[in-house]
Amino acid sequence: MQAIVLVGGEGTRLRPLTLETPKPMVPVFNVPFLERTLIRLRDVGITNAILPAGYLPAAITDYFGDGSRLGMRLTYVIETEPLGTAGAIKNVERYLTGPFFVLNGDILTSLDLRAMLARHQQLGGIGLLHLITVEDPSAFGCVVTDEADRVTAFLEKPAPGTAPTNAINAGTYLLEREVLDLIPAGRAVSIEREIFPLLAAGTKPLYAYTTDDYWMDLGRPEQYLSSHRHVFEGKMPIDLSASAVHAQVVAPSYIGKGVTIDPDAVVGPYAVVGDYCHIGRGSAVRDSVLWDSVTIGSDTEVVGAIIASHAHIGDRVTTEPGVVIGHDACVANDVVLARDARVAAQKE
Ligand code: GTP
Repeated sequence: MQAIVLVGGEGTRLRPLTLETPKPMVPVFNVPFLERTLIRLRDVGITNAILPAGYLPAAITDYFGDGSRLGMRLTYVIETEPLGTAGAIKNVERYLTGPFFVLNGDILTSLDLRAMLARHQQLGGIGLLHLITVEDPSAFGCVVTDEADRVTAFLEKPAPGTAPTNAINAGTYLLEREVLDLIPAGRAVSIEREIFPLLAAGTKPLYAYTTDDYWMDLGRPEQYLSSHRHVFEGKMPIDLSASAVHAQVVAPSYIGKGVTIDPDAVVGPYAVVGDYCHIGRGSAVRDSVLWDSVTIGSDTEVVGAIIASHAHIGDRVTTEPGVVIGHDACVANDVVLARDARVAAQKE
């Protein structure tokens, strides 16, 4: 069994976090998200993964190399122009030998891939789509199915209150190789908009696999941040065994290695602090995710924020919830960052 992990998107909605880090390399509990996805594949025996990349690919290839550190064989295919979610699959056709999984590179889920494969073998369709049900499907791709779990229609982002179902495309697919024949080569093609509707109208059935797993698309800052809270709350199982406990840390929190916390600072609850961060005297950090080597001055309050690597936050700074700070950005002393503010480093 092979898997394609789509890692070529620009991740515009996560800017400025994705200005220097491609979305799949954004850390979730201090480990690049893609590493967690690859380990998930490896742990069900899928060691051969193909990574169609294009945006900042060196950050991915330099980190994982040939995959041997993870006990995997990784093949990178770099797109010079973004080919879209189906174009990227077509572009790796020569490496595919049989049915294959496709994973969006930004989905955090507890889905059991082995159970999904077993279901596909039992149903025998042209493909199987993982669906989950959400309260409001209007921001997602809605998938309509019949009583035999056959997919009958797709509705991208239906107007609120008009969706015929709450089941949405959850970004994990199992496809037979013949699907490749339906994808035009040499241009950008979206699997959601062009290929799935074709498959739903075809003669060989496309089936749905609906589960109630934990599921989160990490594509927007608020989702990225809340996924960390959900891990703390036990809604999504992740191995946090590397975490250390500090005196000034309020559980649940996760502290990386080499972190220094000055007296009277309070870290947590719900703080994820990357390696070599420094939290100054009298500061508070909670409900936030800090990547590596972030420095926070004294008497600063960081609440509900995401701060990328090497950013420096001055003294007596206040962040209102939803603030996103990019790599290497500097926030001066005595600044108040308003709700949802996005701060990127000034380029010379
Ligand atoms: P936004 O710009 O914020 O919408 O993010 P994105 O560019 O990552 O797009 P989206 O979240 O829709 O992508 C879903 C998955 O497909 C992600 O894992 C992306 O990395 C991947 N992806 C999107 N477009 C391409 C593409 O053109 N080529 C490749 N190889 N992957 C893609």
